Amino acid sequence: MKRMLFVLVASLMVMSGMNAASADDGSVHKGSAKAFYCTGCHGYNGMGSNSVTGLAGRDAAELLAKLETFKKKKSSIMGLQLAKFSNNDLKDLAAYFASLKKSARGEASYARDIEPVIQWRCVSCHTSGGEGTQKSGLNLTSYDALMAGTSQGGNLIVPGSPTTSSFMIMVTRKDHLRMPFGAAPLSDDEIRVIKVWIEQGAKNN
Ligand code: HEC
Ligand code: HEC
Repeated sequence: MKRMLFVLVASLMVMSGMNAASADDGSVHKGSAKAFYCTGCHGYNGMGSNSVTGLAGRDAAELLAKLETFKKKKSSIMGLQLAKFSNNDLKDLAAYFASLKKSARGEASYARDIEPVIQWRCVSCHTSGGEGTQKSGLNLTSYDALMAGTSQGGNLIVPGSPTTSSFMIMVTRKDHLRMPFGAAPLSDDEIRVIKVWIEQGAKNN
């Protein structure tokens, strides 16, 4: 009898251990590729939009439980979104969104939201020796360099004022000088988050 009790307790402990591990099983890296499908509604980097809740920085187990419930309700908005995702995909997505830095709803972060866009879309030209830095003097490889601006153009970012920040003007203008130079424009989500970040003071956060 004692032995059976021991086996029962031991197996319960193993099972609860497995439960605790299951939400952490997901791969943040794989999740980041799949999260593309979610950010259209849940905002850039899962920050949330005016009408849909944010996912960034939330508890992985809670997110996973919600996703699993949605997946079973095939007729709901989320159920339709999740139809093409496997159970492992859901774990990856939960792990990815949980890994994003938690911030107040709607608060933009330089490290999380702005730097990756600049690294990916601007730095190939705006680094020492790059075409953009050679022509304009603008180096975008760090927060300090971005805030320093250029000797001809002056400050690119006016904290609190996106409309007068030439950075915003350069990424939204309609002529051939629109940045990234000669490439596809930034997405609406990326432009929105840059605008919010400048409005909130363009902090090195
Ligand atoms: C077409 C827009 C749309 C897309 C795309 C979308 N969602 Fe949602 N999501 C919603 C809406 C709307 C809600 C809230 C409505 C509801 O609870 O049914 C929601 C709710 C959620 C919730 C519950 C939030 C809470 O606080 O209860 C989670 C978690 C979630 N979505 C994750 C995701 C993930 C992960 C993806 C990508 C695979 C995704 N969503 C794609 C629209 C969308
Ligand atoms: C393919 C190369 C390339 C990419 C990518 C690129 N730029 Fe440029 N950028 C240039 C060139 C070339 C110039 C100089 C244009 C001119 O005046 O003829 C320039 C000039 C600028 C200027 C004007 C600087 C000044 O005040 O004199 C800003 C601001 C700028 N870029 C921002 C950006 C931003 C932000 C991104 C990413 C979203 C970006 N650029 C991506 C090539 C690039």
